Amino acid sequence: GYRDRINIAIDGPAGAGKSTVARMVASRLQYIYVDTGAMYRAVTWFMLNQGISPEDPEKVLQYAQNMVIELKPHENGQMVLLNGEDVTPYIRSHQVSAVVSKYARIEGVRIKLVRLQQQMALEKGVVMDGRDIGTTVLPDAEVKIFMTASVKERALRRFNELSDEGITLEQLEKDIAERDRLDQEREVSPLRCAEDAIILDTTHMDINQVVEAILSYCET
Ligand code: DC
Repeated sequence: GYRDRINIAIDGPAGAGKSTVARMVASRLQYIYVDTGAMYRAVTWFMLNQGISPEDPEKVLQYAQNMVIELKPHENGQMVLLNGEDVTPYIRSHQVSAVVSKYARIEGVRIKLVRLQQQMALEKGVVMDGRDIGTTVLPDAEVKIFMTASVKERALRRFNELSDEGITLEQLEKDIAERDRLDQEREVSPLRCAEDAIILDTTHMDINQVVEAILSYCET
């Protein structure tokens, strides 16, 4: 059997397949899945729409005060509501992906979202994926996984997800390498493996193998 109502933190770089795997683990354990990347993406989409540049953090924070972000379970994954509006269809666009790191490195944005994420995990029974879950958001999570895969493999996985955006594999590889760099080098909550995390290199694993591996760490 599995341990009763624990929290599971899944971190790792862009495109490692965290969200697919986290969603499947949550569904197997009947836990709540929290996609923290979707929250940073929703903030980014909102700011782009309002024409607020990431180079003006004070203005970003001012606008962020009036933002209500909610995650709702949905048949195929998770729905992201921003001030009550469903923004799920917009947040995975290349336009958002290209600049999300710039908003995610603003300290006030992180403080706001981290607080919200901690509230969501208070009752336990949560699978949360992101970059700083095991280190900052849920340092006491019972199971911490750090999922990686080579840049090439991650670009290929993203490429197979995006259908109609006319973006090349080479461009995706560049974008992912650049996003890794920004996520790792930012001062506030950089992407970093927690000391007590289990490192899972998924380059040569399929999704089901990764899910089974994570579930095995949740056994009693
Ligand atoms: O996992 P993703 O690609 O949807 O994440 C989008 C961006 O948000 C990514 O550039 C890193 C950032 N992010 C973060 O800084 N902290 C998190 N906990 C989750 C995502």
